[in-house]
Amino acid sequence: MSFFEEISPEMDRYLESHASSEPDILKRLRKETFRKTTQPHMISGYQQGRLLSILSKMLQPKNILEIGTFTGYATLCLAEGLKKDGKIITLDVNQELAYLPRKYFEESVFSNQIDFRLQDARDFLADNKTLFDLVFIDADKENYVEYLALIKPHLRSGSVVLFDNVLWYGKVLEENPKQKATQRIKELNSLIAQDEDFENLILPLRDGVNLMRMK
Ligand SMILES: C[S@@+](CC[C@H](N)C(=O)[O-])C[C@H]1O[C@@H](n2cnc3c(N)ncnc32)[C@H](O)[C@@H]1O
Repeated sequence: MSFFEEISPEMDRYLESHASSEPDILKRLRKETFRKTTQPHMISGYQQGRLLSILSKMLQPKNILEIGTFTGYATLCLAEGLKKDGKIITLDVNQELAYLPRKYFEESVFSNQIDFRLQDARDFLADNKTLFDLVFIDADKENYVEYLALIKPHLRSGSVVLFDNVLWYGKVLEENPKQKATQRIKELNSLIAQDEDFENLILPLRDGVNLMRMK
């Protein structure tokens, strides 16, 4: 789903019908997410899912980290590009919903490569020492600035990081935003743009994806 008025529903349908098709397991997961969850719009969805899949296939990562599993849609897209002996760690704190990603992970051809943990991402990043080739951050926006600092020691030259929702429904254009999430996202985008350790650009796909590469 696109939140930008510039992208009409017709254009959105056009974009979708001219992208690679979505594997059947993802179609079913998307439908079940819309049937069974109260905030289905949180799912990465078709176009962003294909972006994650293609990037992952280009990078062929050994270690992927996802912060914010939700129902596991993006996890399965990212897993499509893993090396044969690669692993994706995906973190969430929502115990009640965990049955849903678990069900699809078990069914997936990547089941042995997915390490789904119910753990706060801040605790994980502080305790764990793994270096990641690809990181997708799509969780609590208020902590995005903290995630940027915490993720850096887990990167090496060439690692790719994506932060989702960095246009925040267009609210990043507000001069003095009252909402904390908007303030944090604006701060994050500025920090990334000024950080000499990264090259980046914001892709205006869906709600905006900040695509970064560690130099
Ligand atoms: C936007 S959803 C993730 C969507 C998912 N990546 C996808 O593309 O389908 C955000 C998720 O982040 C989780 N979350 C929030 N705070 C978190 C934290 N501190 N650590 C890990 N996950 C967190 C929420 O429970 C929620 O399921």
